[in-house]
Amino acid sequence: MDYNAEFTRSISRPGDFWREKAADIEWIKFPHTIWQAKDNGHGDWFTDGELNTSDIALDANLRAGRGEQTALIYDSPVTNTQQSYTYNQLTDEVARLAGALKARGIEKGDRVVIYMPMIPQAVIAMLGCARIGAVHSVVFGGFAAHELALRIDDATPKALITASCGIEVSKVIAYKPLVDKALAQAKHKPELCVVYQRAEAIANLQSPRDVDWSALVRDAEPAAPVAVKSTDPLYILYTSGTTGKPKGVVRDNGGHAVALKYSMKLVYDASPGDVFWTASDVGWVVGHSYIIYAPLFAGCTTVLYEGKPVRTPDAGGFWRVIQDHKVNILFTAPTAFRAVRKEDPEADFLKKYDIRSLKRIYLAGERLDPATYDWLREHTHLPILDHWWQTETGWAICCNPTGIEMMTTKPGSATMPSPGYDVQIVDIRGNQMPAGEQGQIAIKLPLPPGCLQTVWGNDERFRESYLDAIPGFYSTGDGGFEDEDGYIFVMGRTDDVINVAGHRLSTGEMEEVVSSHPAVAECCVVGAHDDMKGQIPIGLVLIKDGATIDHDELEDELVEMMRDKIGAIACFKRAMVVDRLPKTRSGKILRRVLRQIADGEAYNVPSTIDDPSILEEISDQFRPR
Ligand code: COA
Ligand code: AMP
Repeated sequence: MDYNAEFTRSISRPGDFWREKAADIEWIKFPHTIWQAKDNGHGDWFTDGELNTSDIALDANLRAGRGEQTALIYDSPVTNTQQSYTYNQLTDEVARLAGALKARGIEKGDRVVIYMPMIPQAVIAMLGCARIGAVHSVVFGGFAAHELALRIDDATPKALITASCGIEVSKVIAYKPLVDKALAQAKHKPELCVVYQRAEAIANLQSPRDVDWSALVRDAEPAAPVAVKSTDPLYILYTSGTTGKPKGVVRDNGGHAVALKYSMKLVYDASPGDVFWTASDVGWVVGHSYIIYAPLFAGCTTVLYEGKPVRTPDAGGFWRVIQDHKVNILFTAPTAFRAVRKEDPEADFLKKYDIRSLKRIYLAGERLDPATYDWLREHTHLPILDHWWQTETGWAICCNPTGIEMMTTKPGSATMPSPGYDVQIVDIRGNQMPAGEQGQIAIKLPLPPGCLQTVWGNDERFRESYLDAIPGFYSTGDGGFEDEDGYIFVMGRTDDVINVAGHRLSTGEMEEVVSSHPAVAECCVVGAHDDMKGQIPIGLVLIKDGATIDHDELEDELVEMMRDKIGAIACFKRAMVVDRLPKTRSGKILRRVLRQIADGEAYNVPSTIDDPSILEEISDQFRPR
């Protein structure tokens, strides 16, 4: 098949195109209406279809005769465990948890917050919710109690599912005290808190709210998948926006299943039985889509890795997993390989393992820097495939369409728009930019199936954040350009979102934390370049007149506040006291210039600046660390 024909048809005849792709999943009721416009070019997919996502991920594989095939491999170097579940076993576990939740009154449409480490029970919890039509909202385990509380108040869940601890290399992180703190802070109080007890830390349970997972499922009646509407929400996943309050991205059941199943062929060229490993975390969209849902929709074996690229126990960890489980397809973030390359520049560890099962390596989550691309090519001799997407889209906006037609890769480019995405490079008014010139990357509406429906409980915010800026387009928040051959180059965010080790964080949210310090008058947080993590946040702080705090002490306090409010993953380690902040005449802080100064780049003095001498003053203060 040829990519151009497939892409053109997806844009010119989307109804026919997606009806055909919809036939690749099992529906309870096949949709008659493929697309229904709501307003302003946005709308719903497969409106009158009915299905169950857990049925497609699990039971459909049993019906296809894959019951005894391995569905899930749990590999945990931090606990020295390897454990496999066949499709029969995983279906059984999911059905029992689903039955137990149902017996506790959790029904279709109820929300369930899941705060779990990388253990099979996280997968079982998500699929268990999907089975009874409950809407899961997974919160990444690295977020602090305050962030969890914010999400609890926004999603108003009936239940929360957690584990007694997570393990970070050799550090045991007790989750239950964090959950208790979050529940105490949150205004909304879930009725039920299910706790999976791990041997490394036993949590205290507060009866009657807290229930032990094992006791809950012991005598549970297995639940069958319930029919949900295609447009019913499958999950809410919070992501950073430009303000302090995270946005709850809402994903439907039908569009999600169709798009993800299609992506397994288009992007990853995966077949049933392939061993698919996504080294990410279930708390991020990459984990939702490609650790759990898509590999199971496609009848693959998925690997759940509770470890790091380095230090568990060494920079050979990834190669070891590939060898042990005969991984065929690997997907991770570039930062993971930057960490490996830093510790093992000559890839000596790779020589100790047999990775011949591996066919391709996929990278996403942040820009794939040419140095990492070259290193991987040189040492693995495999296709290294960059693809670009975001929490909001749930699957690749741009990819190398390997399953249809393998394109020549160009380092620095995520290749071509995936069929269904009418990607355009535009200026702020929506006018198309000529090839080679940078602009905003926007997607002409409608978005294909699988993309967000709205922001949970705040449709106005959804419209303001994504649709209002350029009428008729979805604004991705990324900037970049298209070259003469139609390859898309994504250069970075155009808003206040930064990307730290593949984790998306909001500088606005960090500024709220810094400003809440009693000695701080004003502040600004910018993302500065970091060789391993891509970006790291740096705070510039103006202290209040009369405040006598020592600058190092202030920095320490701000670092601690950030860990307490957002979490250690913010990697906020530097706060610099400055005398003034550069502003426009209308009072807006000039963040872009500050970022350039932090990176040691040349900058142009903006004509709107009220006092250009501040820039030199700040450049002098930026001491290397
Ligand atoms: N639970 C609790 N704490 C967590 C956590 C979790 N799930 N994940 C990270 N943290 C903590 C770490 O322990 C660390 O804390 P510390 O400051 O007390 O040491 C802090 O958050 C920063 O962690 P991390 O970003 O993982 O940095 P690192 O230096 O330990 O490791 C990498 C660097 C590159 C190895 C690591 O960031 C990595 O594996 N990145 C891949 C990212 C990824 O998969 N992204 C998904 C998007 S595709
Ligand atoms: P998240 O929603 O956490 O997945 O983060 C999405 C953001 O990560 C995007 O908007 C981009 O800024 C960035 N990103 C993801 N993949 C890529 C990629 N392949 N190249 C460049 N940036 C990327």
